[in-house]
Amino acid sequence: MPPNDHDAALDRIEITVADITTLAVDAIVNAANESLLGGGGVDGAIHRAAGPRLLEHNRSLGGCPTGLAKASPAFDLEARGIRHIIHTVGPIWGDAHDDEAMSLGNTPSDVLLASCYTRSLELARDVGAASVAFPAISTGVYRFPKERAAKIAFGHVLGWLTQADLPQRVTFCCFADADAQVYKQVIESRGQWMFNRKRA
Ligand code: APR
Repeated sequence: MPPNDHDAALDRIEITVADITTLAVDAIVNAANESLLGGGGVDGAIHRAAGPRLLEHNRSLGGCPTGLAKASPAFDLEARGIRHIIHTVGPIWGDAHDDEAMSLGNTPSDVLLASCYTRSLELARDVGAASVAFPAISTGVYRFPKERAAKIAFGHVLGWLTQADLPQRVTFCCFADADAQVYKQVIESRGQWMFNRKRA
């Protein structure tokens, strides 16, 4: 697989403000908890929209450790064209070693959040999803700093897209304009933080 260039990969990323369950994509990523049995936030929205068959199905999955991901059918969401739900469990910011002063990628939660994105992209590729949408994993109830999370999300998605043809398109689905602004700023300033690896 010849590596795709940086700019071509960048063209395959978009940011939107929406309820993720309304997007016309092949797969949506759920910011779940380790039980995979639903909750609030985007997890609650996805379970409500997918219907009770999702909970019934997920009971058979035996949970999911933080940083990993498991796929399920989209059930009632298939009526909207969504074929897969990728459930990933983000870290809860606040581990004894989680310190915003630490350089990006070097706290335990940074590593786990990065794994959520790469594991979810692997599953999106494996199920043949041409398009996948991510919520801002861990930045709600799990209190992960938003800009730090956006840098980790963008950096790992871009890295994946420079070496893989699937998924073809990745959408960062924000639930508020302010969150979308964080992603836009992170992407526009990528030259400062991505390549120089200055302290975050
Ligand atoms: N569509 C897109 N994004 C959404 C939606 C939605 N319908 N609802 C909420 N969000 C956004 C939030 O605004 C936040 O930016 O998803 C992001 C993640 O927030 P949470 O849903 O709180 O997820 P997280 O911080 O990863 O915490 C996960 O919360 O709901 C429980 O069961 C879940 O225990 C787990 C924990």
